[in-house]
Amino acid sequence: MQEPRDVHDTVLVVDFGAQYAQLIARRVRELQVFSEIVPNRITAEEIAERSPGAIILSGGPASVHVEGAPQLDPAIFDLGIPILGICYGAQLIAQQLGGVVGRGMAGEYGRTQLARSGDSLVLPDDAPTQHECWMSHFDGITELPEGFVATATSAGAPVAVLENDERRIYGVQFHPEVVHSPYGMGTMARFVHERAGLAPDWKMSSVIDEQVAEIRARVGDARVICGLSGGVDSSVAAALVHKAIGSQLTCIYVDTGLMRKGESEQVVETFRRNLGIELIHADEGESFFEALAGLTEPESKRKAIGERFIRVFEKYTGGLSEAEFLVQGTLYPDLIESGGADGTASVIKSHHNVGGLPDDMELELIEPLRDLFKDEVRALGTELGLPDEMVWRQPFPGPGLGVRIIGEVTPERVGVLQEADAIVRHELAAAGLERSIWQSYAALLADVRSVGVMGDERTYGHPIVIRAVTSDDAMTADWARVPYETLEIMSQRIINEVDGVNRVVYDITSKPPGTIEWE
Ligand code: XMP
Repeated sequence: MQEPRDVHDTVLVVDFGAQYAQLIARRVRELQVFSEIVPNRITAEEIAERSPGAIILSGGPASVHVEGAPQLDPAIFDLGIPILGICYGAQLIAQQLGGVVGRGMAGEYGRTQLARSGDSLVLPDDAPTQHECWMSHFDGITELPEGFVATATSAGAPVAVLENDERRIYGVQFHPEVVHSPYGMGTMARFVHERAGLAPDWKMSSVIDEQVAEIRARVGDARVICGLSGGVDSSVAAALVHKAIGSQLTCIYVDTGLMRKGESEQVVETFRRNLGIELIHADEGESFFEALAGLTEPESKRKAIGERFIRVFEKYTGGLSEAEFLVQGTLYPDLIESGGADGTASVIKSHHNVGGLPDDMELELIEPLRDLFKDEVRALGTELGLPDEMVWRQPFPGPGLGVRIIGEVTPERVGVLQEADAIVRHELAAAGLERSIWQSYAALLADVRSVGVMGDERTYGHPIVIRAVTSDDAMTADWARVPYETLEIMSQRIINEVDGVNRVVYDITSKPPGTIEWE
């Protein structure tokens, strides 16, 4: 087995603007070197203690001239650790080491021509003398600090790349982390692999080895439980913990009766049969329908489902009283500070995708995915042998189809919706659109009826709404431009195959003002 990762192999990304820092950290990991994001108020002592292999200063929305603009502890520049500054980070290097950052310049936004003006140790060798990159700045470096050379310029940035190889400190005014900088990844690779000398050896198989060793050491021979929702995160977390401790893990799958067609069977099949994990299938649909009887208001439905969920979880874990640990699929973005340039606000989301767990459960948490981004969790799932349908599953709300039936939730209505939803999912996959779409589903307007005609008969049935959206994070979303042909097949199939439905509509509302779910 591989030794736990050496801390020297880590790149610390100093956060001067949250979304930039996250993207940089992901790019470094794509280069197969582990990276972590740290707030910009980190001190030289704290960095020295962590002893990283390299430091990257992220871009940020601020100007170095604005009062209170974040600075770096200057002693960090003297630690002898290779540093790459990006945009704001490059300007900080210039300013803090004795150069000049000019103000009130023309600025550059978007695609910009970069001209090499000297031998560079960070721009990749295959980057032509003139090449395109992505810029976003108004201030610019006008005078180099002592010991630095400029190796590239652009129309609005007399110093677009600055380098001091003796101190191994480099800065680029452009954004190498974005796809619009075609030589950006080459620049990051050259810094990380060559200047900092970090080997590309962080891969999913080493993550598995490390986690397995850590979980074994922590758990000993104690019992561990894991609530499965069928979603990507809890599934991958469970598979990983199972690899570490085998039959000491018991998974509980609370079947609310509000899952999509075939979903519960798939969870049971995958975990019990394919992975050999001990799985309690809490088949509790009936009790959820009882709790939902007569309820039509979205929040009361959510509350009823959430409460029932906790009771059911308690009922089944009651018999596992010797359990000491609880597995949770918390991801890195759920934990990192989202304070942006300030970096002071540490916001930790409580992320119980399955609807919340009992507050009074005294269990220690195991969060084996807490270092990973979503795409890395998917890669890990594949490496652990989980099927594609599970690894690439779209986000699904904890209350399930309960918030996709507008009106009272009954078993019959869930049955109707499951059929229509299965057609939407099937046809979207058949059109090859599944992975480009954030979420797609059918909703049943159970409180609405409209008139139609089928054969010689007048019908009076319910409408199905098809919803398909694109999004990066569910905070905002746009309706997906699904081809008419695909919508046509969905509509025909739903009307022909699903009893009680005589009309299909496509939801063309973005978020905001709409939400992704209908309730
Ligand atoms: P909205 O509808 O607010 O949804 O645009 C944003 C994202 O959150 C999911 N969602 C939920 N997830 N419990 C959950 O676990 C819920 O009650 C819930 N409501 C919405 C939704 O599917 C989308 O991904």
